[in-house]
Amino acid sequence: MKRFLPVEELARDERFIRSDLAEGFADPRNGRVRDRTISTARLQPDRAAAPDRARSLMHGIFVGEIQALEAAGRTTFDFDDADAPFALKLDMARQCWDESRHVEISVKLGEHMGTEIGEYTEATFLYEAACVTDPAMRLAGVNRALEGLAIDVFNTMKDFGEASGDPVLQFCEDWMLADEVTHVKMGSDWLRRLTERDPERRERALEFQRAVDKLFSLGGFRGETDESPIQIARRFRELAGFDTKEIDEIAGLAAESIAETRALLGKTG
Ligand SMILES: [Fe+2]
Ligand SMILES: [Fe+2]
Repeated sequence: MKRFLPVEELARDERFIRSDLAEGFADPRNGRVRDRTISTARLQPDRAAAPDRARSLMHGIFVGEIQALEAAGRTTFDFDDADAPFALKLDMARQCWDESRHVEISVKLGEHMGTEIGEYTEATFLYEAACVTDPAMRLAGVNRALEGLAIDVFNTMKDFGEASGDPVLQFCEDWMLADEVTHVKMGSDWLRRLTERDPERRERALEFQRAVDKLFSLGGFRGETDESPIQIARRFRELAGFDTKEIDEIAGLAAESIAETRALLGKTG
């Protein structure tokens, strides 16, 4: 088997349609519009666009789960034990077990919500972040930034399930959320262990994490105000090893991004 499998070689059948992240964000069915107008708003059942946005988000979760499975699987194989200790690989193997279950749950939830595989495109950013060759960066970018985002997304979807009177959605999201907290915690713990004696390496990994976080705060996609469809889940992030300063930083990115988008609209419109 090949080490460091490039994104182009991921196995997908004909139902899957690739898009790059920018296109994914720009796809109106994904709740965004091409000119980066602030079209985002908190996901609430009484809003007319809510069912379609929730379905689109569900499809995004589904493809994210496949890539999370692929990413954790690669980490069990890509590195020698000297670079990634056996105990880290065992944690990643355990994560694969969770992600496989999440893929199955997400397919069924998608059907439950009235969508099917391939109705929306697949952006492969999660797997691409998992292609970095330093395991510390991989843990920061995937387990902390992207699975941290998964915590926010699942918590938002759980609340949406509760608000729209859908116990199937509510409980499935709650169970997946519990798993994601452990995945992010593994990322936090291993990042600390791997970089214990190398502060520069830790800083590089955290820099990568910030870059990924920034991307997903674009236009206020994730934040703490009513303008953000995805709400930051502070309590669950704390359980996963984020300190208050780190969470404030992510909230700050969202506020910054909303202000930038507004300034841009002010200039052009
Ligand atoms: Fe997952
Ligand atoms: Fe996960």
